[in-house]
Parts: sequence; structure tokens; C-alpha cells
Amino acid sequence: MSFKGTLRPKSHCDNETPRAKLVMIGDSGVGKSCLLERFMDKNSTNNWISTIGVDIRTIYLDIDGKNTKIQVWDTGGQQRYRPVLASCYRGALGVVVVFDLTNRTSFSNVKQWLHEVEEFSALDADKKILVGNKADLQADRKVDQGEAQQFAQEAGLQYIETSVLDQTNIQEAFTRLVEVLTVVVLCCDVSM
Ligand code: GTP
Repeated sequence: MSFKGTLRPKSHCDNETPRAKLVMIGDSGVGKSCLLERFMDKNSTNNWISTIGVDIRTIYLDIDGKNTKIQVWDTGGQQRYRPVLASCYRGALGVVVVFDLTNRTSFSNVKQWLHEVEEFSALDADKKILVGNKADLQADRKVDQGEAQQFAQEAGLQYIETSVLDQTNIQEAFTRLVEVLTVVVLCCDVSM
């Protein structure tokens, strides 16, 4: 099923139960919070406050004309929060794994993140998206697009490169997420 709705990043206040839960993971500093904030239309690239534990945000997506509430769990990437993360995966319908294109270690660690998802959730590969962020820093790039693409392909994941700074592919990344989620969102309620 393809996504036919419209993305609507700004919140609309209602009391509807969230219909889907997404989790964002990846090393600290790769840009998870900035991606989400940018999608929600806020400029947050200048004040870096590392996420403490987990931030839960709500986004609304129009799916087939229905205003659909999606909960996004933005997790802190620091090692000390790992024990908390196990419980974050519960009930998740999609996972976004983010790495920093200028930080080779954050790419190497994607395997570990995926391993963790497998350990704590039963999500299929097609419910996970790999995002290479900071594409604006071309001169500092440490991970080739082809290499990341191949890794994603072998793992069965979709891959997209983004930049919060110049706003490249932010909408596109979230559109892909909706494509991943659509079938489930339209078919059932999700209890967290
Ligand atoms: P934790 O909360 O510690 O897990 O970090 P995070 O992954 O949420 O990273 P965060 O969004 O806080 O961003 C970390 C830093 O990267 C900030 O200084 C941002 O300004 C910077 N940053 C994020 N996205 C981009 C980008 O696309 N390009 C550039 N150049 N910098 C970015």
C-alpha cells in the first residue's frame, strides 16, 4: 500500500489515542532530536542539549484524510541510557536508526543498534529505516553513500540521507516512515 496522505508536522490538539509508535535510535550527537524538531518546524540546530533518557513527541499525519496521532520516542544515544531503551521498543511499529555521515563510529555502531532492536522487539526489517544525517558536511564525510546503501540493502532496510542544516530530505524521511506504518495504522489501534 502506498502513502496517499499529507504530512502535517504541527500538532493539532485532540485527545485521540496514538495510533502508532515510532522509536528513534542511534549514537549520541548524530542528530536524532534535530531531525524530529526540524520536521516539527522548529529550528534547533544551534542549541545542542543531549537527550536525557527519552523524549516523547507527538506528530500528526494525515493518512487518507484522517488526522492520525503518532508518538515518536526520541531516545538519548549515550551509553548510560541503554538499560532504559529496552522498554522503549515495546509496542513500536517502526524504528529509525540514525547515524552521522561524518562519524565513522556512529555508522559502525548501527549494527549494534539493529541487534538491540532484534533483541527487544519483533519488528521486521521493512519496519526500520536507516538515516545518514549531516549530509551538508560533504568535506567531512566519512561514510560513502554507496557503502551505506549497500549495508542497508543487505539488512533489508530503506536508506535515506538527510541534512537538518539545509533541510535536505527531512519531509522525505518522514514520508517513508509513514509508508512503513500505513498498513498497520489503518488496520488497528495501538496500545502503548
Ligand atoms: P543525543 O540526544 O545525545 O542522543 O543526540 P542526538 O542524536 O539527538 O543529536 P542532536 O539532535 O542533539 O544533534 C547533535 C548535534 O548535531 C547538534 O549540535 C546539532 O546542531 C548537530 N546537527 C544535527 N543535525 C545536523 C545536520 O544535519 N548538519 C549539521 N551540520 N549538524 C547537525
